[in-house]
Amino acid sequence: MTEMSYRTALVTGASSGLGRGLALWLGKRGVKVYAAARRRAHLESLAQEARAFGAHIEPVELDVSHADATVERVRELDTACEGLDLVVANAGVGKQTNALQFEWADAKQVMDVNVTGAVATLSAVLPRMVERNRGHLVGVSSLASCRGLPQNAAYSASKAFLNTFLESLRVDLHGTGVRITCIKPGFVKTEMTANIRHLMPFLLEADPAVELMGRAILRGEAEYGFPWQMDKVVGLSKWVPNFLFDAVASKVL
Ligand SMILES: NC(=O)c1ccc[n+]([C@@H]2O[C@H](COP(=O)([O-])OP(=O)(O)OC[C@H]3O[C@@H](n4cnc5c(N)ncnc54)[C@H](OP(=O)(O)O)[C@@H]3O)[C@@H](O)[C@H]2O)c1
Repeated sequence: MTEMSYRTALVTGASSGLGRGLALWLGKRGVKVYAAARRRAHLESLAQEARAFGAHIEPVELDVSHADATVERVRELDTACEGLDLVVANAGVGKQTNALQFEWADAKQVMDVNVTGAVATLSAVLPRMVERNRGHLVGVSSLASCRGLPQNAAYSASKAFLNTFLESLRVDLHGTGVRITCIKPGFVKTEMTANIRHLMPFLLEADPAVELMGRAILRGEAEYGFPWQMDKVVGLSKWVPNFLFDAVASKVL
């Protein structure tokens, strides 16, 4: 598979964790990156750090849960740079939604950001990429999408939605110059996992995780789950019968 090259990219959720790392990773490779999130000060410090490497990162204050405004803003960026080559819908929230103390507001926030926000980000440029017959849309899903994980009804389901959404797009776009990639990280040390107290098998530091994501994007992988050990475990878990899955998952996670 030949590696791709980009002039311009948009990464959402770039104020911390994987998105921040990926924006810097792309910037260091000569890509002009629009780094989007709500926390402006974090984005400014990212842009400053990038300048030290001669990289060009432009902060974009954006709340992707405001879907229509997100579509409008992403289209403005696309126009401003004469066509985004790469769009990474990475912004995500990992609020727990335990069925025993279920809060609609938490579930809504997860869906507004992980589902509606991601679809708004990607849909904004899709018709233009199709017209240009060029471009790459990437969604950051999760290995937690494979089955309904305990206390994560909204999160697991939101990422399962993203997997299926991206797969359908990929099929529709087969044979065109527009590429689709679905990234499925396992556990990575970021703000999102900072307060998790249960076991996190094969936990990765953010830097190696970003390196794996960046390389998978450049290769134009259709789907990429990592680390490989967790990807295998999760793949096998699909075949575990419900009675066994329920008993084990509620104890381990
Ligand atoms: N860490 C893991 O173990 C892990 C595993 C699997 C998948 N993932 C996925 O990886 C992605 C990145 O997560 P992370 O681990 O890097 O967590 P993180 O450090 O908490 O980063 C989440 C990012 O999303 C942004 N965000 C949240 N709500 C937003 C909103 N309404 N509008 C715009 N941006 C918003 C945050 O920025 P602001 O707060 O500044 O807006 C932040 O930049 C997420 O989609 C997550 O589900 C993470």
